[in-house]
Amino acid sequence: MGFPTHRLRRLRNNAVIRCLVKETELSVNDLIYPLFVEKGSRKKTEVKSMPGVYRFSLDSIAKEAKDVEQLGIPAIILFGIPEKKDPRASGAYAENGVVQQALRAIRAEAKKILLITDVCLCEYTDHGHCGIVGKDGSIENAPTLELLAKSAVSHAEAGADIVAPSDMMDGRVAAIRKALDRQRFVDTPIMSYAAKYASAFYGPFRDAAESTPKFGDRKTHQMDPANVREALREVALDIEEGADIVMVKPALAYLDVIYRIRRKFNVPVAAYNVSGEYSMVKAAARNGWVDGEKIMLEILTAIKRAGADMILTYFAREAARLLKK
Ligand code: PBG
Repeated sequence: MGFPTHRLRRLRNNAVIRCLVKETELSVNDLIYPLFVEKGSRKKTEVKSMPGVYRFSLDSIAKEAKDVEQLGIPAIILFGIPEKKDPRASGAYAENGVVQQALRAIRAEAKKILLITDVCLCEYTDHGHCGIVGKDGSIENAPTLELLAKSAVSHAEAGADIVAPSDMMDGRVAAIRKALDRQRFVDTPIMSYAAKYASAFYGPFRDAAESTPKFGDRKTHQMDPANVREALREVALDIEEGADIVMVKPALAYLDVIYRIRRKFNVPVAAYNVSGEYSMVKAAARNGWVDGEKIMLEILTAIKRAGADMILTYFAREAARLLKK
């Protein structure tokens, strides 16, 4: 027998030709870096379950954001850990809340980087739920919407360029859009966590943000990992309500969801490569079981290949350094 007729290896023969036929190019422009901020000063605390990820105090967050900007990363997303938590999450929409202060501090130093804020109540409620808990223990939709809208407006007032609601209440995008428009923020885009699953992959994040619910779980608002048609409904509604960018979260176990959304809708799609996805790679790499850098780039490329236009990832700093070389 001679050669097979179809010789695909011709285009894999050397690095130059492989580069020429590459279909997906991961770039630093695709990356969004999550940052955790808390009150106080001179604190930089590593998150135990997330090696290389830190909680910064207010006096050091601006320098960190400036470093990220200098790496060419176009955006950060901010998560706040308040000093005090209460049932109405008042820290989420306080003029001098931790995120609001961080926004002003960062903008004073880093002029270009886009400032995205996570809009949710779970980091600010004493029970750790994403909304107002009613007498029967359930999360009440309407009163929660009011506080989410208030939080989004207070972020915009403090300088947020994009707000990203992650709560999964029904109707939050419309409520936030209306509130922003009423307060002169017609040009502030909404990046909605549209298809956000009730996932065990958020474990390390909840350590970092101290937002593990004290009772119950998030299954009455976050999605069942078994569902994808429902994700398409969520996205359709969020777009109708005014979402400018829609997000899928987590990313790696949900590439089919990213793909289906990319095919069906013509808005930018973001994917959140979440804490558990990061920690698993770090843990295995520390054990010498996998090559951490190669796995990281393979994962990020796969998320992009599935259809994500941008990726929120704790790997952003490391990836940016490698991609620039
Ligand atoms: C809610 C929020 C969470 C994450 C981002 N925004 C936690 C949750 O829904 O429990 C998780 C991000 C991650 O795991 O990296 N404010």
